[in-house]
Amino acid sequence: MQLKIFKNHNELSEFVADRILELVKTTPEAVICLPSGDTPKLMCSILVDKAAKSRADFSRCTFIGLDEWLGIPPENEGSCAYFFRNNLFHAINFTPANIHLFDALAADPEKECEKMDRIIAARGGIDLMVVGIGMNGHIGFNEPGVSFDNYSHVIDLDETTRSVGRKYFNTPVTLSQGITLGLKHLSETRTVILMANGEKKAAIMKQTLEENISNKIPASIIRTHANGIVAIDEAAAN
Ligand code: GLP
Repeated sequence: MQLKIFKNHNELSEFVADRILELVKTTPEAVICLPSGDTPKLMCSILVDKAAKSRADFSRCTFIGLDEWLGIPPENEGSCAYFFRNNLFHAINFTPANIHLFDALAADPEKECEKMDRIIAARGGIDLMVVGIGMNGHIGFNEPGVSFDNYSHVIDLDETTRSVGRKYFNTPVTLSQGITLGLKHLSETRTVILMANGEKKAAIMKQTLEENISNKIPASIIRTHANGIVAIDEAAAN
């Protein structure tokens, strides 16, 4: 694992956007998994700008959405699907058939997980996974206590995630479960970048990097990844 500390959120976001563009250039059929949330928002807008300027072609790439709030429809502004539509798909030329997001309204969420696992396996695994980190050390919705051996699964959200998650929603919602790629996907991904910015992430980043590697802090798994990059700004490194 490599630790990279950037001056600010902008430089961090630029680094991640550049890595994505480089990958798409060298591997036009890359399988890319991105997160939603406040952390990657700036990276997405830089990526959109740079992709337009460099005429990057994402049409043969596969896009995998990291996670979703179970039961929240895609038209809700707090859903991950809404985030991707608004921040990426409006401007990046992914082919719609190559975009794979969890269906938060699936009648059978377990089948939805199996479907996602099959898609990833059929594409030969994920080339680049970018993730954020929750205030409790989660990755996607891999909450504290989760097995490192899980592929996609449905999970009960812990109290921190339920309350922090309200920041994405303008209307009252009940957040009780998430559907997410598993940490086994992360281990099997060729390159993983964990992004974090801001002072509020400093305490959990310290735990992630310095405490024992265990499922108490799911993000600590990144330290076991040969091509894992922890990319944070100075405030999160504080
Ligand atoms: C959310 C999502 C994660 C996200 C993380 C950090 O709950 N499930 O995929 O990376 O928490 O979010 P933010 O970037 O808004 O701090």
